[in-house]
Order: sequence, then C-alpha cells, then structure tokens
Amino acid sequence: MNSFSDIPILDDLDAVKKTPASGGGGPQVYLETYGCQMNVSDSEIVASILKENDFGLTHDLNGADVVLINTCAIRENAEQKVRRRLQEIRAHKRKYRPDLKIGVLGCMAERLRTQFLEEEKLVDLVVGPDAYRDLPNLLKTTFSTGQAAVNVQLSREETYADIAPVRYNSNGVSAFVSIMRGCDNMCSFCVVPFTRGRERSRPTRSILDECKQLIDSGYKEVTVLGQNVNSYSVGENGSAVNFAELLHRISLLSDSLRIRYSTSHPKDCSDELLHVHRERPNVCNYIHLPVQHGNTGVLKRMRRTYSRDEYLSLVKRVRNIVPGISLSTDIIAGFCGETEDEHADTLSLMREIRYDHAFMFMYSERPNTYAARKYNDDVSEEMKKRRLNEIITLQNEISLENNRNEIGRVHTTLVEGPSRRSDEQFSGRSDTNKMVVFDRESFSIGDYVDVRVTSCTSATLRGKAVNKSRNGFRTVSESAGINEHALPVVN
Ligand code: SAH
Ligand code: SF4
Ligand code: F3S
Repeated sequence: MNSFSDIPILDDLDAVKKTPASGGGGPQVYLETYGCQMNVSDSEIVASILKENDFGLTHDLNGADVVLINTCAIRENAEQKVRRRLQEIRAHKRKYRPDLKIGVLGCMAERLRTQFLEEEKLVDLVVGPDAYRDLPNLLKTTFSTGQAAVNVQLSREETYADIAPVRYNSNGVSAFVSIMRGCDNMCSFCVVPFTRGRERSRPTRSILDECKQLIDSGYKEVTVLGQNVNSYSVGENGSAVNFAELLHRISLLSDSLRIRYSTSHPKDCSDELLHVHRERPNVCNYIHLPVQHGNTGVLKRMRRTYSRDEYLSLVKRVRNIVPGISLSTDIIAGFCGETEDEHADTLSLMREIRYDHAFMFMYSERPNTYAARKYNDDVSEEMKKRRLNEIITLQNEISLENNRNEIGRVHTTLVEGPSRRSDEQFSGRSDTNKMVVFDRESFSIGDYVDVRVTSCTSATLRGKAVNKSRNGFRTVSESAGINEHALPVVN
C-alpha cells in the first residue's frame, strides 16, 4: 500500500501490511493485510481485540505463534495472491513450526471456508469480517483442541463501534475511521455484498469520539471509510443523521483536521453533501466517484442505477457547486458483453470528464454474483487487456495534462513522511489528493506546508515550499488567477 491516504479504499489490492511488535504476553500474532482500506481498518480492530485479550503482536513471522491473513476477494488475482501466501506460510509451518496456527480473516473467509479447511487443509482458523470479537475464543479453542475453528457469521448490527483501533502502521498523521460496514447495492460484478453482508452504519457519537481522540493524539487527517459512505444513515433523537451531516459535524471538531472519505456511490451524491465540501474548508476538495463504465447499456448490466448522461450531469452539478474540485474514479474494462463501441464510450467519457486519477481494472468474474449467474464472461482475456491498456494510457495522458496545469499554483500539503526517492525530501498530499514532493528544509511530518508546484509527472507534483500554513486551508489564489471559494489549496 502506498500511503494511508490513498484513495479509493479499494485500490491497492496487492497491499500487504505487517504488524510491528507490541503488547500482550500471550501467544504472538503476526497479521498481514491484503485488500482495501476497509481491510486495513479492520486489521486495526483485530489488533485491538487481540491486545485486549493478552495476545502479543509481532512483525517477525519466525517468532509468531499465530499467523493471520486478512484477505481480499474482489478479483481473482487478489485471491490467488492470498493462496500463494498461504502456501508459503504452510511450508514454513511444516519445516520450522509444526505448532504454528494459521488463520484466514476477511473477505475470502465465508466463500472459501470449506475449501480452506477441508479440501486444502491449509488453515486452522477461518473468521469472517463480522466475527472478530470471537477471535480470541476461536484461537483458544484451536490451541486447546487442535481442531480447526470457524466463525463466518455475517451480522446486521456489528460495527465494532466501541473498539478503539490499534493504529499499528500509522504515520501518526492520517488515520482511517470506519463509519459503516457492508453494502446493499448489489452491483452485478461485485462480490462485496456477499463477503461483507448487509449495510449498517455506525452510531454518530462513537465516530465523533474516535475522531476527537485522533485529534488529541496529534492526527491531522482522517479518511472516513465505508463501501458506500454517502448512504450513511443512523437515527438520533427521532431524526436521521445522514452522511452530509456527519461530515459537517466531524469538520467542526477541529480546524486543523482534514477530512476525506471513500467510497461514494454516484447515486447518493446529494447537493447537501456538495455544500459541505463547499462550505467547510477542512473537508477535502476531492471526491472519488466510481463510474465503472461510460456506456448506459453496460451500466445497466452492471446494475449501477445511473446512465451515462445522469453521471455526466452529476459531474456538472459537482463542479458547479464546488468549482475546482478534484475527481477520481474506478473503471472496469471488458465487462460481460462489452462491444468495441461500448468500450469507446468509456474512453469518450474519460475525455469529457478528465479525471485527475483513476483505478482501472479488467473485469474478473466472481462466483455467485448476478453477472456470474446471468451473463457470459465473453470478452477474451486478450481483448480485456488491450482495452484496459487503452484506458490506462488515456488516463495517464489526462493526469499528466491536468498536473501540468498545476505548475505555478500553490498547494497546501500535509506532510506524511520522507519521499520514496530521497530522505532530503518530504512527500504529502494536497487537499485535492495529489502526491506532492518538496525539499524538507526545516519542516516536520504533520505540518501543513504551502508548496508552489514547479514540475510534475502524471502521478506526482514537485515543488518548493513557500511557507508553513496555519492550518492548511486557504481560499484565494494569487498565483494562477484562480479565485474560487472551493480551491482551499491555493493562496
Ligand atoms: N464500494 C466501492 C468500491 C468497491 S470495489 C464502490 O462501489 O465504489 C472497488 C472497485 O473494484 C470497484 O469500484 C470496481 O471498479 C472494482 N471491481 C469490483 N468488482 C470487480 C470485478 N469483479 N472485476 C473487476 N473489478 C472489480
Ligand atoms: Fe460493490 Fe457496488 Fe457495493 Fe461498491 S457499491 S461495494 S461496487 S456492490
Ligand atoms: Fe475490500 Fe477486497 Fe473485501 S476490496 S471489501 S478486502 S473483497
């Protein structure tokens, strides 16, 4: 995973996060996380539950008594990666640690529990995303009986609201806060509603309390997480708190806390939400708005509930209410029945919208989904690859052109850490979620720094610090002739 603030939540499926040592004198647990930001956030909950129950956390596989792999099922290659990793750990167990316990958590658990336990005899423990409270008991059972332990029950209520996540891989600057779980949308290609169950929202009070604690511990940015955050809804004193209201309340907690969210479904992008972006300078000037496809017929087959034109008018509305907002998206190439003309519609939509960034995937059939049951996965692998490459090439061109337009502008950047290439440089994210790299001078991690962009690639802005910003939220452009309320990144 590149960075905690990477958006969207479901991008870095190859991510592996490893647990550093901490806490607990009991059995030592090594935890590896694959998949999206939700899974990273879940692993922080798992770490908390384990610590409370006197398990230790270790980053040393060799010293571990238990290995837990938090898994992802979104595409076939994500699953294959986990399987390969399990084979490796299994080999390690056979050779060096016959008493090692291996557990599978997360999105592959429910679907593959029989296979893991019986056919492949690969693991000792299978625990689904709603059953982590049971993990200490299940571990104790498998330790004491030597039998495999399983709980893949999905819940309609579980939000882990009362559990304080252990932020074991944190940079101390940005954190994830889960606000809902599950998904009811049933897009025809997607396995998530099956792996994570029904949608449910976490009580507002517990979200606000967690954000307050983060602020008190010095955090500067939260990314609130859910599969479809803008359908957040909980009852409070007889009325409902929706996502716009929640975001507004979080934004009032502290001027120096920046807020992002991921992921939002286009169908739920309300004017009220857009006005929160416009009016609250610490709500980031960025929305990830997955389109998936540019053709109405394909969108219908995907069950996305909007047409191309509806999506285009949504983008217009977003840009009208929040001028200068940065947009990114997710795109799937080669969905069932996709013709060359339909594919061309995706390219033309991209040209029309000019996203700053996109996460682009080849369609991968997932068992039990509507698409798997009703449609033929009939676009050849070769054609999927070619179409995906066209999409990626176009997006790279657009990202580069968009970034070139940033040269000369000043972006308030939250420093996350040293840049990958050089310790002499810092990197961080602009309010618009672009990676910004600049000389570190005397700045510190967690500072908001105004950086004037001097050059760029399609993925990164490079620049020179012009000054340390009070809290990172400026409203007026001096440099690029832009004078828009909604460009809080420029001064
Ligand atoms: N809940 C989020 C994202 C879910 S999964 C949303 O609806 O926006 C993240 C991305 O993975 C999706 O947006 C989609 O582009 C991609 N994806 C999901 N299922 C897929 C599949 N079967 N094949 C290829 N890509 C898929
Ligand atoms: Fe999957 Fe659609 Fe739900 Fe996103 S909104 S998690 S793509 S079913
Ligand atoms: Fe996330 Fe993968 Fe599950 S993308 S929700 S970990 S299937």
